[in-house]
Amino acid sequence: MSQSHADNAPQAKFKAMTEGSQEDWMAIASQFLPFAANGGKRVLDHLRLLDGDYGGFPVDRLEHSLQTATRAFKDGRDEEYVVCALLHDIGDTLGAYNHPDIAAAILKPFVSEKNHWMVEKHGIFQGYYFFHFLGMDRDMRDQYKDHPYYNYTHEFCEKYDQAAFDAKYESMPLEAFEPMVMKLFETPKNSVYGPAAGVE
Ligand SMILES: [Fe+2]
Ligand SMILES: [Fe+2]
Repeated sequence: MSQSHADNAPQAKFKAMTEGSQEDWMAIASQFLPFAANGGKRVLDHLRLLDGDYGGFPVDRLEHSLQTATRAFKDGRDEEYVVCALLHDIGDTLGAYNHPDIAAAILKPFVSEKNHWMVEKHGIFQGYYFFHFLGMDRDMRDQYKDHPYYNYTHEFCEKYDQAAFDAKYESMPLEAFEPMVMKLFETPKNSVYGPAAGVE
């Protein structure tokens, strides 16, 4: 089936990448940057999938995300941290068995190594509060006790994540966080595609 854009955006002409030309790649590159810079919008759209998804918890997963982010924001955390708090469970819909990895992968090009590690490992640290109820080891986090980000990640779970299941808490609306998300995803700090995005 032949495919072409309804708009007049340029398209590459190759059938296989081995036939690719400079012109083809200029056509693709011209559309990559605006698309990539709008990543925050797609992330927010995906986050909204958590709306109404309770999974047995006292609040749905979107409310839990908003509550985690609101608690971090009101505690004076910087925007990057607040966005990490907002998105830490975004992987719940796609990665039932490894949701922290999904959030960590999405955030990786845009955040510090410390915040990335915190998001990636939050599932194991959060387990301290419930793994023992499920026949698991609540101290699984101890494997990282000498890691430089251990206390930082423990603090995230203790102050914000494990505390964000209060159905009576007044969370900030998602709209309040949208500008922070849009801004964070506009420009990568580190990515193999960085040079194409004008970032070293
Ligand atoms: Fe989580
Ligand atoms: Fe969480």
